[in-house]
Amino acid sequence: MKYLNLRQFSFFVAILTIFALFPATDWPVAYAEDAYPRSNPLVGDQAAIEKGAYLYFKWCGACHGRRADGEGVRFTKGADLTIFWRSYCDYMVIALNGRTDKNMPPWGGVLDEEELSSIGAYLETLAKESANWKGSCTLL
Ligand code: HEC
Repeated sequence: MKYLNLRQFSFFVAILTIFALFPATDWPVAYAEDAYPRSNPLVGDQAAIEKGAYLYFKWCGACHGRRADGEGVRFTKGADLTIFWRSYCDYMVIALNGRTDKNMPPWGGVLDEEELSSIGAYLETLAKESANWKGSCTLL
């Protein structure tokens, strides 16, 4: 049995170096930026909006309210989603992962991405003037 020769050894070191440097590069960030488009692809899609409304009342309304403004809620008061100002991508990140430290449950595993996009398309129909659903991710 032969030990590693110099070429194999350098190859091994090179691979290790790449893995060690990987988190320091901006590759994963660039990838995350592309995780979701700069606007919701389901915006204005009537079928998606109706499905989103149904899902909203089933899963989100209890905390975010009948008008999605966080009013008239009995227990945990959710944020006012009619003035959501981040981006579709940030919406997806928050909806999928929740803010578990602040009573916002994670919906990944309960609702799939298309369902969450549909809810987003519905919420965009309620968006007030100060709201914003476009732009790049700030949370990834
Ligand atoms: C158990 C109560 C509860 C339910 C159910 C709930 N939320 Fe929330 N949500 C919250 C709370 C509380 C916050 C505010 C968290 C904070 O202060 O950062 C929040 C915040 C959010 C935010 C961030 C708002 C912002 O301006 O930063 C989004 C987006 C959101 N919820 C989407 C949803 C969606 C979509 C659903 C349904 C699939 C849902 N939530 C269901 C409690 C809830």
